[in-house]
Amino acid sequence: MNRSKIAGIGYYVPERVVTNDDLTKVMDTTDEWIQERTGIRERRYGKKHEETTTTMAAAAARIACERAGIQPQEIDFIVFATLSPDYYFPGCGVLLQRELGITSQEAGALDIRNQCSGFVYALSIADQFVKTGMYKNVLVVGSEMHSMGLDFSTRGRNVTVIFGDGAGAVVVQPSDDPNRGILTTKLHSNGTYAEKLAFINPGAHGGYHKQHMDEQVDFGYPPTDTYGEIFITPKMISEGNYYPNMEGQFVFKMAVSKFPEVIHEALKEQGLEASDINMLIPHQANLRISQFVQKTLRLRDDQVWNNIQKYGNTTAASVPIALCEAWEAGKVKDGDLVCLAAFGSGFTWASALIRW
Ligand code: COA
Repeated sequence: MNRSKIAGIGYYVPERVVTNDDLTKVMDTTDEWIQERTGIRERRYGKKHEETTTTMAAAAARIACERAGIQPQEIDFIVFATLSPDYYFPGCGVLLQRELGITSQEAGALDIRNQCSGFVYALSIADQFVKTGMYKNVLVVGSEMHSMGLDFSTRGRNVTVIFGDGAGAVVVQPSDDPNRGILTTKLHSNGTYAEKLAFINPGAHGGYHKQHMDEQVDFGYPPTDTYGEIFITPKMISEGNYYPNMEGQFVFKMAVSKFPEVIHEALKEQGLEASDINMLIPHQANLRISQFVQKTLRLRDDQVWNNIQKYGNTTAASVPIALCEAWEAGKVKDGDLVCLAAFGSGFTWASALIRW
């Protein structure tokens, strides 16, 4: 079997910088609270009505293609990870294909709904397709336009202050060198706590999962048996029940246990140690989570890339943005062992080891 490699990488973040102080103007929060609990100083928001999850993805993808030495027309499969798609359906994969002007190839496109671990899952899918020889140029994208779906009142402050917009993309190709490229990927999930970090409405659940939800939380189940009100009801709209919901401390505890576990799993399979990692790119969920993981793995500061201070949590985009930044800064070099790791809603978590 071939080995696959990341042949080109790019990222895009919108121009508009939103500082913590900017958020204090619309909700009861402080720069001090946000920095102390999350490490975030600012984040980017896309230009409403002009930028979308798809357009940001296209900007990142064009850079990735150029660096991989291919034209977008040469892409033979798209894997798109996002939790903030332009439409409920169809997915962003086909919209990206259209945006890149490559519909004439009619190459396949797949959307991944794995939230913060979405990019690592997407990379793993691309790896399998390239390793088996099915495709030669797979475009893998993580992109999020969170700013369109957040609650900017004080009620939503625990979630809203964390998230930002952006996109990252890579082109996965067969590797010429059998010792270099994607060494392994590890993917896990546990749906037991699906509602602990979730965007419930609109959805077709019709109240079915109530037994899994906190008694105090009313997600605005349809008040009547009327069909057609299942996705979004007047009650949900009047009560504003169409925003993400997160039990922060619970998520935090799960994250700090699952990050090291899935990294060790990948390292052990490859006969490697944490000390062999040249650069760890953790999903940028919270600076405190990344610092905890760094400490657990006994890594030095120069072995871990953090940029949540500038961009907040960009969910599926966070790993490729951070990887691209580290690479552009010359911190990811040929022959380096790079580890990607992510944890998020689902819960889902994943890691990838790459010999660059
Ligand atoms: N500004 C000011 N106060 C805020 C606030 C904000 N933006 N958000 C919440 N608070 C308040 C709460 O209302 C609560 O007040 P109370 O004590 O009067 O009830 C207090 O701060 C503590 O809230 P809590 O949720 O316990 O804070 P925390 O220390 O757990 O920090 C998170 C909250 C969200 C930063 C933290 O739990 C976290 O990062 N969790 C992981 C989240 C994550 O990684 N999500 C993405 C997964 S990939």
